[in-house]
Amino acid sequence: MLNFEVVNPTRIIFGKNQLDRLPQLLDDLNVKRVMIAFGGGSVMKYGLMDKLIEKLTEFEIIYFGGIEANPEFSTLMKGVELARKERVDFILAVGGGSVIDGVKFMSGAITYPNDPWEVLDRKEGCVFEQAIPFGTILTLPATGSEANSGAVISRTELKQKRTMGGPLFFPVFSFCDPSLIATLPKRQLVNGIIDAYMHTLEQYLTYPSDNLLQEREAEGILSTLIEITDVVENPNNYRLASNLMHCATHALNGNLRCGVPTDWTTHMIGHELTAFYGIDHARTLAIIAPRLYENRFEEKQEKLTQYGKRVFGLVGNDLEIAKEAIVRTEALFNGLGVSTKLSEHTVDYDGAAEKVKNVFIERGWTAMGERQSITPDTIEMIVKSAY
Ligand code: NZQ
Ligand code: ZN
Repeated sequence: MLNFEVVNPTRIIFGKNQLDRLPQLLDDLNVKRVMIAFGGGSVMKYGLMDKLIEKLTEFEIIYFGGIEANPEFSTLMKGVELARKERVDFILAVGGGSVIDGVKFMSGAITYPNDPWEVLDRKEGCVFEQAIPFGTILTLPATGSEANSGAVISRTELKQKRTMGGPLFFPVFSFCDPSLIATLPKRQLVNGIIDAYMHTLEQYLTYPSDNLLQEREAEGILSTLIEITDVVENPNNYRLASNLMHCATHALNGNLRCGVPTDWTTHMIGHELTAFYGIDHARTLAIIAPRLYENRFEEKQEKLTQYGKRVFGLVGNDLEIAKEAIVRTEALFNGLGVSTKLSEHTVDYDGAAEKVKNVFIERGWTAMGERQSITPDTIEMIVKSAY
């Protein structure tokens, strides 16, 4: 088992009818001026905002809406200006991964003295040194952002999607109410399943690590997600909805990575496909993962076999099981209605492989994967095979 260290200070408040606790939690933090940050309107449309307003009468509320999917730097900078002007002392993110990620960025940028882009651009020595505290009300189970300290911010004018994070960016608390997902469109439910599934695979499909517990936990999440795919048709079924939300939070709260090798290459390629073509995050992962596993087959074979046996119940020859595990993974995504071909998500795919490869070279990402064996040329091959 590899050495590890883990801290996760976020208080997860899971279940229905928990929002009554919100005022007390804010009081305990001595909060006076709360910015409620939200997306394109679902929070208004389905009545959640009204409930919040009703509960937060004793606080000064500042509203900041319009955070789009794949949150945009320029939009968030407007929120930063507003928060500075209104001297906000707490931010409440109400939404999915995009709103929560946007709030993480804003919470660091508000007190940053220079252009916060330099932090996302990883200019030497540029880091957020303080963050305004924030909490979340999760409305879309997918990213795990409610339970971790990472964020992904887009800047479309530069065709860039950059990551940030660190210990300052854990939410103070996250309300995870599975009944809120009843209003999600099917597309977002599918995205949620695939994103959570892929977070688990990125921390699992490497090589056996002797961390028997983490491997079983990952297999437990994968098996559970397969078991509950009907949630896509029945998001108001609490049994299905609560398990999806629990899986998604658990898949990226920092637990699965403890003591195991990880390979986040599918995500890193996927972020570039979103930056170039605007494809939904989860869908980029479905496009890349099967091709990456084929490309790295020998390196991942042992784990693919274990995955095939334990998650899909395959029996027989180990080599055949490993191959079939990739086929089953792709079939799972296709069965959810997601094509695994880039050309079915954008007509503009010509040259994508070279473009993604060049980004990896520019950023110095020349040795990726659990064995640092994935070079920019490998990236180009993987993306090309996904056309
Ligand atoms: O904007 P509104 O109107 O609220 O609509 C949203 C949005 O259009 C809608 N929605 C959310 N909750 C709803 C709802 N509609 C009806 N009922 C509800 N209860 O869903 C749409 C998509 O929301 P979004 O937040 O963009 O989706 P998701 O949670 O999948 O987040 C994706 C973003 O998170 C990043 C992705 O790269 C992407 O930018 N990620 C963040 C990670 C992290 N911080 O740990 C890890 C992930 O790997 C990922 O990269
Ligand atoms: Zn993801």
